[in-house]
Amino acid sequence: VEKGLKDYYSSYFPIGVAVTPQQLKDSAQRRLILTHFNSLTAENAMKMGPIHPQEDRYEWTGADAIVNFAVANGLKVRGHNLCWHSQVPKWMFYDKAGNLVTKEVLLGRLKEHIKAVVGRYKGKIYAWDVVNEAVSDNPKEFLRNSLWYQICGEDFIAKAFEYAHEADPKAILFYNDYNTESPEKRQRIFKLLKKLIDAGVPVHAVGLQGHWSIKDPSKEMLGAAIQQYADLGIKVQVTELDVSIYTDGNIPENAGAEGASGFSPELQKLQANQYANFFQIFRQYKGSITGVTFWNLSDRYSWLDNFPVRGRKNYPLLFDKDLQPKAAYWNVVKF
Ligand code: G3I
Repeated sequence: VEKGLKDYYSSYFPIGVAVTPQQLKDSAQRRLILTHFNSLTAENAMKMGPIHPQEDRYEWTGADAIVNFAVANGLKVRGHNLCWHSQVPKWMFYDKAGNLVTKEVLLGRLKEHIKAVVGRYKGKIYAWDVVNEAVSDNPKEFLRNSLWYQICGEDFIAKAFEYAHEADPKAILFYNDYNTESPEKRQRIFKLLKKLIDAGVPVHAVGLQGHWSIKDPSKEMLGAAIQQYADLGIKVQVTELDVSIYTDGNIPENAGAEGASGFSPELQKLQANQYANFFQIFRQYKGSITGVTFWNLSDRYSWLDNFPVRGRKNYPLLFDKDLQPKAAYWNVVKF
């Protein structure tokens, strides 16, 4: 059997990948997944909108396909996610007359949702991103001004963790976010986590999404962030890793300056170096890092192909569009 990424990292942490149910039907992609990865995340199939489109109807097909594939092949599954401001089904926040529901009603709906989804995959999904991206990007604000927040205040966060813990007491429960290493946003994320932990809320780990670039973050910044979270006594995973070849970050206003530069040899080298840097830090913090998951399988398709510039192709992963390992791959397995 061909040696893969997961084998090089077997004494460190599981290596995951975000997938769609459709990808699992393609034999070449299936083979690549099974060679290199031992953990799966559903890119969209378990989110509230796709899985719970109407109050009285769940759509399990996609999520079941991913979980069944994982169980059949001995892969772990991370659940993503239970409570987020995006991809929420239309019915969730409103009553039949089209008015916003009360806090009591909304928390009741959240509880039902979490009970059903976590309950269905109990024992098969070992970790859940319970709350995703609840912290604001605005330094003047603590939490994101989402409808969850507007209707419930900050209580929805603790409640989501409690409901998930009740539904599967063995699951490892995550708070997941992006820019988790930026010293500025990190203070707010740390504050939230500390508050939850001090209040006895069952939050066990923090997910650093890891939507990074050939420029950011520095090794020092990343290491300091991992250490700061680990000092809270919780585990850390990198949950959505990719390394954009553009340096405009996830900020639409800045995007486009570099245009469609393509994937030049120079960019390939910068990206390979950056991947080497990140994995060096992950290995160094082995005791705290319990998983690293890539957000998409290969450069054939990445969510970054359309973000933040519609139609602009990106090349953020370890495998190229023909599913072949890139320079970045060889750097990650060379240590
Ligand atoms: O499924 C519908 C399809 O029926 C419709 O025709 C089409 C038209 O736009 O949309 C399809 O849904 C899209 C969905 O992906 C599935 O392809 C949504 O529009 C699109 O918004 C959605 O994007 C996803 C995004 O989350 C939503 O914000 C990306 O695939 C997914 O990679 C991305 O993942 C997030 C993580 O969950 C959280 N962290 C950030 C990360 C990247 O944004």
